[in-house]
Amino acid sequence: MILIVDFGSQFNQLIARRVRECGVYCIIEPPTLPMARIEELRPEGIILSGGPSSIYEPNSPRIDARIFELGIPVLGICYGMQFMVDALGGRVKQAQKREYGFAELEAIRTDDLFQKIPPLSQVWMSHGDSITRLPDGFEVTAVTANTPFAAMADNRRRFYGLQFHPEVVHTSKGKQILHNFLFQVCACKRSWTMKGFARQAVEEIRHRVSDRKVILGLSGGVDSTVTAMLIHKAIGANLTCIFVDNGLLRKDEALKLRKTFKEHLHINIRFVDASRQFLKALDKVTDPEKKRKIIGKVFVDIFEAEAKKIKGADFLAQGTLYPDVIESRSAFGGPTAVIKSHHNVGGLPKRMKLKLIEPLQYLFKDEVRRLGIQLGLDPDLVWRQPFPGPGLAIRILGAVTAARLNVLREVDAVLLEEIRAAGYYRKLWQSFAVLLPLKSVGIMGDSRTYEDIVAVRAVTSKDAMTADWAKLPHRLLGRISNRIINEVRGVNRVVYDISSKPPSTIEWE
Ligand code: XMP
Repeated sequence: MILIVDFGSQFNQLIARRVRECGVYCIIEPPTLPMARIEELRPEGIILSGGPSSIYEPNSPRIDARIFELGIPVLGICYGMQFMVDALGGRVKQAQKREYGFAELEAIRTDDLFQKIPPLSQVWMSHGDSITRLPDGFEVTAVTANTPFAAMADNRRRFYGLQFHPEVVHTSKGKQILHNFLFQVCACKRSWTMKGFARQAVEEIRHRVSDRKVILGLSGGVDSTVTAMLIHKAIGANLTCIFVDNGLLRKDEALKLRKTFKEHLHINIRFVDASRQFLKALDKVTDPEKKRKIIGKVFVDIFEAEAKKIKGADFLAQGTLYPDVIESRSAFGGPTAVIKSHHNVGGLPKRMKLKLIEPLQYLFKDEVRRLGIQLGLDPDLVWRQPFPGPGLAIRILGAVTAARLNVLREVDAVLLEEIRAAGYYRKLWQSFAVLLPLKSVGIMGDSRTYEDIVAVRAVTSKDAMTADWAKLPHRLLGRISNRIINEVRGVNRVVYDISSKPPSTIEWE
């Protein structure tokens, strides 16, 4: 296992991704992690991440310098390297010139870390401070035009520092450098597999829950479904899932999910049809935040009432993912135990005195998908695009009515059919339609029409934090528009949303 110490860099999750792609398990922890815990974890190597601070600022984040006495290899990246230099007796100073962007790296030594790295390669720099003197025992291993200490090594103690970021794709040999650290320096084994993870997770759940009962809110998405499968494997009938149909789902979705769950999962599931309650609560509401709050509240009320019927439940399971866990803790403090209200049940565990089970809390989305496949989940469900909890209500601008829901459902069904047929469904992070609160004039046959406008949104993204509008072929867009206008009554105009996130968001509300 590799321990990644989080000094606050925006690239930290990428370091974890790269390490896991190499088949090595790793965790990201804040620098406040106590020494005793580090010794208990017994990592094969420690990676000190980059971060926005300057090492000579009074409150700059620091980890206990005794990590350098454990005999464990350490790789410092950017700020992590500067921390290492400072802690081991070297010097760091504010650079005359900030170095940001591409640089050409010249490797001047081929030590363990730089094996198979050509003499010249491209790296990504992002730093304001620079090292001016190395600590005893270190030598320079690479330079760039502006950075005389671009990489350093103490091969005897197995300490390494990189001023550039090996985890980003802009560093052409970054993956090889991390690979070298894991396998040449730390002698890690490739033992992180989904099969191994599944086995271990099931054992842990079984051990923790024993013969007690677990409740889980199924949303129909891949995270909650995979969570259900893992827990079911561990404790069988002691897991009860609750699926609340809020009436804001896409065409035939509730029905299809019901069928998939029944046929493939063989899990206790309680279906609650609450469409009427949601629609009633949303009556005449147009403000996006109000819509979200109402939907959240109605959901909690219904979920709680249903959960109470399950006598003697001790645990609530959630499909929280690793990015949520990392993002929800303060930059340098310890985890602040913020629970992502993914299924809108954030406050529930406390009120109902339930303990939380979050078996996916160390996984990234694509790992959850791989785990789903490993557990035999239907590929259609594994590859479902994300769908927001408040559903179509936040894709109908203005008031939500049964009639407008029906229009959007038909539009969305046509759109998804075309996207799938063109082979774009999995390539896109999301593709959906938005019903606008506007009408425009058109002509159909010989008559004037005055009808609804629909916006089509298709985006590519890695994690929904940023997204780009998809450059769909014009021919496909044309077919989508044609079919929607011809087949869905009440729509006479289709527009394509060409905004990226930021500054726009993916959903319109
Ligand atoms: P935005 O619109 O903020 O969305 O760019 C980012 C991602 O989150 C999804 N989303 C939600 N998911 N509950 C959810 O479970 C919600 O309330 C919610 N709102 C937005 C959105 O679809 C996109 O993938």
